[in-house]
Amino acid sequence: MAEQFDVVVIGSGPGGYYAAIRCAQKKKSVAIIEKELIGGTCLNWGCIPSKALLGSAHFLTLARHAGLMGIDMAAPAPNWPKMQARKNAIIQGFRNGVSSLMKGNGIRVFEGTGKVTAPGTVRVNTKAGDVELKAANIIIATGSEALQIPSMPFDGSVILSNREVLNLPAIPASMVIIGGGVIGCEMACVYATMGTKVTIVEALPRILPMQDEWVSQLIVKEFKKLGITCLEGKKVTAVDKSSGPAKVSLESGETIDAEKVLVSVGRRAVCDQETLDALKLDMNGKLIKVNTKMQTSAPNVYAIGDVIGTTYLAHGAFAEAEVAADNIAGHPAEMGDYDLIPKAIYTFPEVASVGKSEKQCKDARMDCTIGKAAFRNNGRSLAHNETVGEISTIRDNKTNKVVGVTMVGATVTELLAAARALLGTTEDITNVTFAHPTVSEVLKEAWEDAFGMSPHNLPKR
Ligand code: FAD
Ligand code: NAI
Repeated sequence: MAEQFDVVVIGSGPGGYYAAIRCAQKKKSVAIIEKELIGGTCLNWGCIPSKALLGSAHFLTLARHAGLMGIDMAAPAPNWPKMQARKNAIIQGFRNGVSSLMKGNGIRVFEGTGKVTAPGTVRVNTKAGDVELKAANIIIATGSEALQIPSMPFDGSVILSNREVLNLPAIPASMVIIGGGVIGCEMACVYATMGTKVTIVEALPRILPMQDEWVSQLIVKEFKKLGITCLEGKKVTAVDKSSGPAKVSLESGETIDAEKVLVSVGRRAVCDQETLDALKLDMNGKLIKVNTKMQTSAPNVYAIGDVIGTTYLAHGAFAEAEVAADNIAGHPAEMGDYDLIPKAIYTFPEVASVGKSEKQCKDARMDCTIGKAAFRNNGRSLAHNETVGEISTIRDNKTNKVVGVTMVGATVTELLAAARALLGTTEDITNVTFAHPTVSEVLKEAWEDAFGMSPHNLPKR
C-alpha cells in the first residue's frame, strides 16, 4: 500500500530541504526525495564548495600581504590537496547537518528519483525498487544544471562545468572561462590566486552584465591586478582538444591555449517530462509557471527555486520555500518584490546589491540622486589595508527614499543585511549612530550623500 503524506517534496536543495522543514514545523507529515546528494547544488557543487575555495584563496591573499601589515613571514604557497580536503570536510559536515535536521523533524527521506505519475501520486525509483507515495501536496524543487554549449559539451576533464571545476585534482597552469557571470568571475578569483593564468571570455560587452556598468569596470580593473584577462564582447567558436593544451578559438580570429576550459554560461531547469505531462503543468518556456503563492497550474502542486528560474539563488529558493509552506499550512502568503532579494558575488573585491539598480531606475525614467562613498576614506578599511571600492545608493526624489544600494569592496556581502533593512528610509539615517571605526560607516555616508548630507562630501548642486 502506498504511504500517504501531507507533503511530498521532490529535490533536497535549499528550496526542497527548507520547505520540508517548514512544513514539518507546521505539523505536516513530510517526505523528501533526493536522487543524488542531500543539500542539492548549493551544498555539494555550488555555494558552499565555491565559498570554501574562495575562503582559502582570500586567506592566501592576506598572507601574501603580510609584509604590508608589518609581518615578516616566508612566502606562502597554496597546498591544493589540503584546500580540497578542507572544502570536502565542510561539505560533509553540512550534509550530516541537513540529514540530522530531516531526522529530527520527522521528515522521511527517500533516496531515488521522484516522478509524479498522476495528480497526488509520486513514484520513487530507489535502488531497492519503485516505491509509491500518495501526497496531499507536492512541492517540485528539482533545481537546475549547468547549460552546455552544444558544439563544446562538458567532458569532465578539459571542458568543465561547475561540478568539475570545484574538484580539480591539481591547480591548472591555464584556464579559459567562457561566460563572465557570477560563476565565471568567482572561479577566476580562486584560480588566479592559486597561480593559474585565467582568461575570461564574455559574449556581452562587459563581465557581470547584470550589475551596473561602474561595477563591471571596477571589477575588470581589479581583476587585471590579479592577473585575470577579461575579453569582453567576444565569442568562443571552437575548442580543439586534439593535442596538448586545448586551443580555444575566438570569433575575432584569436586563439588561446588553455589546460582547462570552464563553461559558465548560465543554468537550465531540471524537470522530467513525465511529471510535466502527468500534471499538465503550464510552462514559462522551459520553466514551470507559478503564481505569487508558488502554486503551479495543477491544484496542490507548488514549484520553488531554480526550477522556476526566478532568482537562481539559494536564498531566493529559501524565500519561495517559506511561501509554499505557509500556503500549504493554510496561512496565505505571497512572494514580495524580487528586487528586494539581495545579490552577493564573492569576487575579490566582493559585489553586493539590493533593491533597484541605476539601470532599472534609468529605464523606468525615475528622477533619482546617486549617493557615493568610498572605502579609501574609511578608518577601518585603511587599518585592514582593504581600501578598494565604493558604495552607491539611489534616492528616488519623488518619494525621498533610498530604493537601491550597490557595493563593491572587501566583505561588502556582510553589509547586505544592513542595506536591506535600511531600504526605504530617508535622510533620517543621519540620526542613526554607526560604530566607529567600522566598514558600515561607508554605507551610512553613501546614504547621507544621496541627500546631500555626507559630512565628508561637498553638497550636491
Ligand atoms: P538545487 O540546489 O539544484 O537542488 C535540486 C535537487 O533536486 C538536487 O539535489 C537534485 O539532485 C534533485 N533532483 C532533481 N530532480 C530530481 C528528481 N526527479 N527526484 C529526486 N531528486 C531530484 N546561490 C547563492 O545564493 N549563493 C551562492 O554563493 C551561490 N553560489 C553558487 C555557486 C555555484 C558554482 C553554483 C552552480 C550555484 C551557486 N548558487 C549560489 C546558486 C544555488 O546553488 C542555487 O540557486 C540553489 O542551489 C537552488 O536551489 P534549489 O533547491 O532550487 O535546487
Ligand atoms: P550567469 O547568468 O551569472 O552568467 C553567465 C554569463 O555568460 C553571462 O554574463 C552571459 O552573458 C555569458 N554568456 C552566455 N553565453 C555565452 C557564450 N556563448 N560565450 C560567452 N559568454 C556567454 O550564469 P552562471 O555564472 O553560470 O551562474 C548561474 C547562476 O548561479 C547565477 O545566475 C547565479 O544566480 C548563481 N550563482 C550565484 C552565486 C552567488 O550568489 N554568489 C555564485 C555562483 C552562481
